[in-house]
Amino acid sequence: MIYLDSAATTLQKPAAVRYAVSEAMRTMSSPGRGGYESAMLAADTVLDCRMALADLFCVRELEQVIFTSSATHGLNIAIRSLVKPGDRVVISGYEHNAVWRPLWGIGADIRVAASPLFRPEDAVAAFQKALPGAKAAVCCQVSNVFGYILPVEQIAALCRREGVPLIVDASQAAGSVGLDFEKLGCAFAAMPGHKGLMGPQGTGVLLCRDGDVEPLFYGGTGSVSQQAEMPAFLPDRLEPGTHNVPGIAGLLAGVRWLQGRTCAAVLDHERQLLEDFSQRLAGLDRVRLFKAEDPACQAGVLSVQLEGMDCEEAAEALAGRGIAVRAGLHCAPLAHETAGTLEQGTVRFSFSPFNTFQEVAAAAEAVGDILA
Ligand code: ALA
Repeated sequence: MIYLDSAATTLQKPAAVRYAVSEAMRTMSSPGRGGYESAMLAADTVLDCRMALADLFCVRELEQVIFTSSATHGLNIAIRSLVKPGDRVVISGYEHNAVWRPLWGIGADIRVAASPLFRPEDAVAAFQKALPGAKAAVCCQVSNVFGYILPVEQIAALCRREGVPLIVDASQAAGSVGLDFEKLGCAFAAMPGHKGLMGPQGTGVLLCRDGDVEPLFYGGTGSVSQQAEMPAFLPDRLEPGTHNVPGIAGLLAGVRWLQGRTCAAVLDHERQLLEDFSQRLAGLDRVRLFKAEDPACQAGVLSVQLEGMDCEEAAEALAGRGIAVRAGLHCAPLAHETAGTLEQGTVRFSFSPFNTFQEVAAAAEAVGDILA
């Protein structure tokens, strides 16, 4: 199989990740629950992972790095901490259902700062217009559907000027497009551990500006146990229950692997694959590519439409030829609405550091075959 669905999850992981998960299952118990060897080993691993993440995302204090089970989990914490029913919240036109649905569930007054695909200046202008009077804003750093890199630095600067706390959804960016949490000055940044960070599924990270947060879950933390309220301090306030130690151990191995390779090199490789693939598809009739004119606006995700072919059918036909991709709305109907692809959806090809130019050539040939 040629796996081109890394925007769903990176199936191919560094070998060190698999090893770390199985070693953790063999040797580690629960952090903060005892001073014996297996508990201390677990505590050290969780701390090491927090440090590696703080280093990768330029986070000043380790307590600001929270382990979650997914980006969705982190986004729900961030949104519930900032938004009350009826509050006006500005979101980009490229948000995932992990943003849209919690806001809708709370009953927020959602204002979409919609702007055309791959036009960052328009995105900034749309936020500028919509921000006055907002209680919070949410913007993804990279669209999971189109790979569009949104201008979060400029949007964050606007939010700071307006005094509006910003939540950054870094799900599709983490591991390739850098994020300097300290410099950005956003209130929260959420991301999964299982995409670009190369950790296992069931891991996620939430970066918090301060401790003014609402827990989503309540329970044991191994700290201030005599108190009914959740601890007021981070990370305990947001990390009740037993940690996903094997997951965090795997995530640590993934982040270390990434630090050795660098996010910039990963992005560069993915962009080269995307460029090669696009050039091959551009030679085919009946293919519509959603590709940025300025390569600086796009990470390693490419959506396409095949004229006269349903996108789900196309993905199935590709799967029959050993090419794994995702088709449809990618849990982000808003992004499709903004880009004008809501009705048909798209076929999404997403690349990882483990993909090769040979795989890209084979995938392009398969697209040609199914069109023929
Ligand atoms: N939201 C993820 C995707 O884009 C899982 O497929």
